[in-house]
Amino acid sequence: MILADVTLNDLTLDPHTALAAARAVGPIAWLPALNGWVVTSRSAAVHVMRDAKRFTVDDPRFTTGQILGPSMLSTDGPAHTRHRAPFNGWFSDRAELQRLTDWMTDRARGIVAELEPHSRAELRSAFAAPLAAETVAHALRLDPPGADALLEWYGAIVDSVQRLTAGLDARDAAMLAYRDLAAAIEATARSDPPAPLVTAFAALSTAEVVANAAVILFGGIETSEGATANAIWHLLTNPDVLAAVRANRSLVAAAAEESLRLEPAAATIDRYATTDVELSGVPIRAGDYVVVSLAGANRDPTVFADPDRFDIARPNVRTHTTFALGPHACLGIHLARAQTIAAIEAVLDGFDRIELGIDADGPLGLVFRKPACLDATWTPR
Ligand code: HEM
Repeated sequence: MILADVTLNDLTLDPHTALAAARAVGPIAWLPALNGWVVTSRSAAVHVMRDAKRFTVDDPRFTTGQILGPSMLSTDGPAHTRHRAPFNGWFSDRAELQRLTDWMTDRARGIVAELEPHSRAELRSAFAAPLAAETVAHALRLDPPGADALLEWYGAIVDSVQRLTAGLDARDAAMLAYRDLAAAIEATARSDPPAPLVTAFAALSTAEVVANAAVILFGGIETSEGATANAIWHLLTNPDVLAAVRANRSLVAAAAEESLRLEPAAATIDRYATTDVELSGVPIRAGDYVVVSLAGANRDPTVFADPDRFDIARPNVRTHTTFALGPHACLGIHLARAQTIAAIEAVLDGFDRIELGIDADGPLGLVFRKPACLDATWTPR
């Protein structure tokens, strides 16, 4: 039940081997390195995600909440419903999704067209990152101030969250960044056409709208960047699949989905036990930290045959847990899927004979997983 020899470095560099070791111990194991439980079976993971009464996000140890204030990400029960409800309609609106998909398709093609003559680029920072940041900025009508400003504010806020996690004080820079972000979000209420956030301003206080908009911004940028970069990585490291997808574009969606399963851009989510509870036969104490490993659940061999293989014909791929399940299931799931597909299409259309460059590396990271260097080369036209 205890996995004493797994380190944070193992979980960052090669989590799948460490998670397989954890799974051999049982569906849930104590990891001293995390000072918490790690859940690796899909059924136990789903159980925890759906049982917000016993496994909550609403805990003072959740550092993001300390910087942003209460939001849909840091509350449960009726408070969570109140925070999330004003955004549900917008994120499930088909016309809005189509408008954003058209925009992302154009933007992905535009970035690829700018890179194409150069025959080589680091595609995570030069393609996946701007596409992700500009999409969320555009979706929230924050085009001015624009993706660069958002990323700068994001950097300051993430820095402070990490300092808080390490037991240090948050930096003033985060407070200033948050003030500027809040002003930009408030200004969207007066934009023409009105921003989707207008309905939220009617239901929540200004501070609450800002906190939730920040969660949407930051929840959507790093994850989508990772999903796109990981999908390109999977295709370029599986040349047979790349050739098959090139020859038959109806396979793009399946390739995107299998990539989301194999390397979830957010590999873990955090919960805290509210009461003594038994999970898969293991006694959990009230207050225990429970890490749901989406990466582990997605490679549960009792659900996914030959789970480490990139197999775009997998019949049950959609049962992966990458977007979480239960009350906190990802609000941007449709947008994220559409963005990954638009990105793959743009790469297939825009780069001839694309392959990995010698500096390329694979997905890395403890929570957010993506290649540090997605070096790629192609033959210019
Ligand atoms: C491939 C890209 C994405 C992945 C892998 C992803 C993954 C996730 C996961 C795992 C959660 C659950 C967090 C938890 O329960 O603690 C989540 C929640 C959330 N996601 Fe995403 N996400 C992606 C893209 C997006 C996008 C594009 C947006 C918005 C533009 C977005 C907005 C949100 C929001 C607002 C929540 C919080 C929902 C709540 O707590 O009720 N995500 N996402």
